[in-house]
Amino acid sequence: MKLKKVKINRITTENNLFLAPLAGFSDFAMRSICLSFGASLAFTEMVSCKGLIYGNLNTEDLLFTTDDEKIKCAQVFGNDPTIMRKAVELPSMEKFDIVDVNFGCPMPKIFNNGEGSALLDKPELAEKIISELKKTGKIITAKIRIGILTGKPLAVDFAKALEQGGADMITVHGRAKDKIYAGEVDYDTIAEVKRAVNIPVIANGGIFSANDADKMIKNTDADGVMLARGALEKPWLFAEIRGEKVNISKKQIIRKHIEKLLTRYDDEVVAVNFRKQICLYLKGEPNSAALKEKIFALKNTRDILAAVDDFFAS
Ligand SMILES: Cc1cc2nc3c(=O)[nH]c(=O)nc-3n(C[C@H](O)[C@H](O)[C@H](O)COP(=O)(O)O)c2cc1C
Repeated sequence: MKLKKVKINRITTENNLFLAPLAGFSDFAMRSICLSFGASLAFTEMVSCKGLIYGNLNTEDLLFTTDDEKIKCAQVFGNDPTIMRKAVELPSMEKFDIVDVNFGCPMPKIFNNGEGSALLDKPELAEKIISELKKTGKIITAKIRIGILTGKPLAVDFAKALEQGGADMITVHGRAKDKIYAGEVDYDTIAEVKRAVNIPVIANGGIFSANDADKMIKNTDADGVMLARGALEKPWLFAEIRGEKVNISKKQIIRKHIEKLLTRYDDEVVAVNFRKQICLYLKGEPNSAALKEKIFALKNTRDILAAVDDFFAS
């Protein structure tokens, strides 16, 4: 796909390849790895505005960033414009240049609470949320889905409302809420959103290869792409899309990823929490089932790294 800078209000990005917010995965370590492979923006996972207001420690931990993040991007969720603005004005949010609002989360806990994708059929409230957040002076972007039910797209009117509220960029995940993360991506609706607004539109959904990225841009004319699961399995996908040779092995990336996490968390915490990520790195590796099973029983990173070394040596 054609690489280009994206002008998001007063910030211009190096390119148009972004890492998606990914709950449980897009922490400082993953963001730093993706940025090292050439992503130009990387978002924290979604953080509850109410959690921030109540000073929830776990929520604040999700906002930890490093100097690798030259442009700092957080994603928040909520449905009360006043509470959301107060949350974004808290000291813990001060360092963030870009705050993205989640209008796509399909999970029952969020949806049934009137947050995330439940806002897709409430464009007036969404507009109010954006206009209130804009008062913080931060760059405010939004991540939406094409609709709640497949076949009943809401994204075009919704995107217009967000633009009206002052949104600086919109990312469209090309699936309806009822599809969660499965199924075909609706390129046409993303293309319609792109034509309907005058702010950058980023396309998301189903990009697992450089070819997929090409196809996405060709079919939508979007300004860029946001990678999600494709980047969790292969953070070097950013380099592949940029047409760069990747000179680092999977084994080395796993080591680097663990080392980054160890700068912040205790060894056992890293060993346990890294299990789900290692399964993604090992996806598609022939005969890796026994390794995965072994790793699930290990409680320190030294043993995990030794098992990984053994696996790739054989
Ligand atoms: C494990 C997981 C966690 C996610 N967490 C978030 C999140 O915190 N905020 C958000 O806007 N989207 C979240 N998403 C959605 C992704 O950002 C993305 O829109 C979706 O996975 C579609 O892209 P893909 O097909 O390339 O994976 C999550 C998806 C997955 C699989």
